[in-house]
Amino acid sequence: MSVNTRRITEEELALQRDFAKKVNSVIKSRYEDKPLACVVTYGCQQNVADSERIKGMLEEMGYGFTDKRQEAKLVIFNTCAVREHAEDRVFGNVGALKKYKLQNPDVIIALCGCMMQQEHIVKRIKESFEFVDLVFGTHVVHRLPELLFKALTRRRRVFELPDMDGVIAEGIPVKRDNDRRAFLPIMYGCNNFCSYCIVPYVRGRERSRKAEDIEAEFQQLVSEGYREIMLLGQNVNSYGKDLEPRINFSQLLRRLNSLDGDFRITFMTSHPKDCTRELIETMAECDKVATHLHLPFQSGNDRILKAMNRGYTREQYLSLINYAKELMGDELSITSDIIVGFPGETYEEFLDTKSLVEEIGATSLFTFIYSKRVGTPAAELEDNVPHEEKTKWLGELLELQEKISAKQMKLHAGKTFKCFVYGKGKLGDNYLAARTDGNLIIEFEGGERLIGTFRNIKVIEPLTYVLRGEIEKK
Ligand code: 5AD
Ligand code: SF4
Repeated sequence: MSVNTRRITEEELALQRDFAKKVNSVIKSRYEDKPLACVVTYGCQQNVADSERIKGMLEEMGYGFTDKRQEAKLVIFNTCAVREHAEDRVFGNVGALKKYKLQNPDVIIALCGCMMQQEHIVKRIKESFEFVDLVFGTHVVHRLPELLFKALTRRRRVFELPDMDGVIAEGIPVKRDNDRRAFLPIMYGCNNFCSYCIVPYVRGRERSRKAEDIEAEFQQLVSEGYREIMLLGQNVNSYGKDLEPRINFSQLLRRLNSLDGDFRITFMTSHPKDCTRELIETMAECDKVATHLHLPFQSGNDRILKAMNRGYTREQYLSLINYAKELMGDELSITSDIIVGFPGETYEEFLDTKSLVEEIGATSLFTFIYSKRVGTPAAELEDNVPHEEKTKWLGELLELQEKISAKQMKLHAGKTFKCFVYGKGKLGDNYLAARTDGNLIIEFEGGERLIGTFRNIKVIEPLTYVLRGEIEKK
């Protein structure tokens, strides 16, 4: 598919840097102390990555940060549109700020992210949330300085919501949430149009960052001490299809894997339709690429998969999983997303999802009840299974997965894993938490100086969701 990707030019970025300086002058003249911003993020890692850029730009403009909304002079909600529940939470939380805003008219309330790319949502904000000052879409995040300047200096509300294929903006400052684990977007948008999903409508067409830009950011992260780097995209398996010279995701992984340094590469999300044997071989062969495959199958029934427009069958999915198991054995950890209660799904069809869950033996699952999204093809389908029934199915699935997870955990007793120690544990005061290459959590007793390093840890006791282990003496 030819994509009309707009790469933001250096002139455009320079213009935004000028606006950043102007915002800085405005806030310096308006507030005695450094004003604080509160950025509230909903949804997926891509949104977290966007918020990190939003915070990077805000820092450049002279803002400090707080988690307390009622302390902030600027509150930005970065929203998610994937399910209705997420949207309801946003409306609830924004509504709760009305009183604060009315008592503090100098406070700016801003909304951005996927929800804002939907007309009916923007209409509702215009009509019922008149205290919101600034609303901007997913394609203009890099113009935050200019938009904020307008919101601070004009009396009118600012709405900036262009509908377009999408942009790529390099060189935006980033303020990361974590100092060991980093998110690195490699592509944006989605072309798959799964029939239930709003993402292709709100995030535009697939577009890839250049491999050299990704590599430069990756190297920068490694030199700053980041040890776990997650490559992000709605469908990383179609990375590079729009680039010249052509490069595919496996080649990108090999390129990053060959860089010097002690680090681990993870990635999210893979689409089974585009997941190749080459990718599985790359995972098995590259020592710094994690053996964790998040490969959402959504449903185990072929009729439903077709209605979802997923582009693969249960058999094709299983053959990929079996190949991955063949090459990576016990090292492999599989996780998946599942939707229950797709319009028209019968209980028998749902049972196929359960049997697939049993067959693959996933480490963990992300399970969702189908949520109707305005404008998607599935929203037009008849949906006659009551919500209570769907909730029951979801319960069955969770119960099954709990048993499978416990069984999977038991298989690891006595094994030793190379783990990345990422923080404090929860099992006790002196416990630390670490992640295996397959994304399992092991907690063990140890001093805080181990945080941020890779260590060999032996599993002593498998618990339901975590493993208890012991650090191996060097
Ligand atoms: N309803 C329920 N779940 C959805 N997802 C995407 N769209 C919907 C929807 N309309 C789930 C899918 C996807 C994950 C990110 O969210 O399982 O993989
Ligand atoms: Fe949505 Fe499908 Fe794209 Fe995932 S691959 S974001 S489920 S359209």
